[in-house]
Amino acid sequence: MGGTNLRVCEITLPEEKSEFDIIQSKYRMPEELKTGKSEELWEYIADCVQQFFEFHHEEETGVVPLGFTFSYPATQNYINHGILQTWTKGFDIEGVEGHDVVPMLEDAIAKRGLPIKVSALINDTTGTLIASAYTDISTKIGCIFGTGCNAAYMENVGSIPKLAHLKLDPDTSMAINCEWGAFDNEHLVLPRTAYDVKIDRDSPRPGQQAFEKMVAGLYLGEIFRLVLVDLHDNNEVNIFEGQNIERLRKPYSLDASFLSSIEEDPYENLSETQDLLLKYLDINTNRSELELIRRLTELIGTRAARLSACGIAAICKKKNIKSCHVGADGSVFNKYPHFKERNAAALREILDWPSDTRKDPIEVVASEDGSGVGAAVIAALTNQRIRDGNLAGVKPPAA
Ligand code: GLC
Repeated sequence: MGGTNLRVCEITLPEEKSEFDIIQSKYRMPEELKTGKSEELWEYIADCVQQFFEFHHEEETGVVPLGFTFSYPATQNYINHGILQTWTKGFDIEGVEGHDVVPMLEDAIAKRGLPIKVSALINDTTGTLIASAYTDISTKIGCIFGTGCNAAYMENVGSIPKLAHLKLDPDTSMAINCEWGAFDNEHLVLPRTAYDVKIDRDSPRPGQQAFEKMVAGLYLGEIFRLVLVDLHDNNEVNIFEGQNIERLRKPYSLDASFLSSIEEDPYENLSETQDLLLKYLDINTNRSELELIRRLTELIGTRAARLSACGIAAICKKKNIKSCHVGADGSVFNKYPHFKERNAAALREILDWPSDTRKDPIEVVASEDGSGVGAAVIAALTNQRIRDGNLAGVKPPAA
């Protein structure tokens, strides 16, 4: 379950290492669900699972273990458990924060009589990390650059102060979901523009996800829209003079793909951009307005890519990682023009690799569908452990 789509995947892990087979269906998360009722959310997810299951899953194989990729911050005391800390990415559904989401999903699935049991809950970044490492052992970090932005890496338990009381073996590895989208919620570090401030103020959760609101796909179109409205209303600049910009005034009416299309406009005279503004916003543009619009998308896209690189560099510095692959997924990473190059260039600058370095020692590589595969790997490992009688970290069924 991500911020824009829900994907249901059936993943088969064969004997051969690093291999997997995947069948999947993608469903859009309906806009009204994001601020609707908790029950409606779980019913919708269970309906999608049911549809998929009835269509694809023919064999009767007993109870099917489900890995639930829940792309929100969760407190996990067990692998099959996750208390939602706070909704992010524009979601605002009452009655879920502070609760374990696993029974909510399981109840909706059970109501439909499906033989499915949630074996593991993981964050999408952890899923991406595990899936990438499953196919490429040089992977040390998993990132999502999509509707939201975040990363996960492996830490040794001895370096996690809040787990000290558990007296675990300090060398045990544990996946850390950084929730770096919440970096600088105190607004002490990142230089914010008036548009960043407004996005935060008008969001369902002001003061949260400060970093994410500057870099993630959900917000790029809105930053762009706010700048244009401001330039129009501000008497000194006067773009789109004398035109009705009502369509442009609608919050969140432009998504990151709008910016992508502008950055991709191949024509010197930006004629595709001109068509886009006319078609979607009913705005006529002259040459200098078009140039300003293109430059604006470049600035917004470049800032997002460069700030995202800071996150990767921070993990590498903390863990003293000198070379690795970073598995990445998400619409911005996969579709936003130049994101990868801008991100790589910033990483080069921050980590200060010599200019004659032939191949970047730390490289961000695509891990498409990673989070689903990672969830399956973790669900399979958990089941294996249970079969072996090792119940550590598994929540026992309610009495
Ligand atoms: C948001 C969520 C986080 C998720 C990220 C990418 O930042 O809080 O859990 O990993 O989006 O989907």
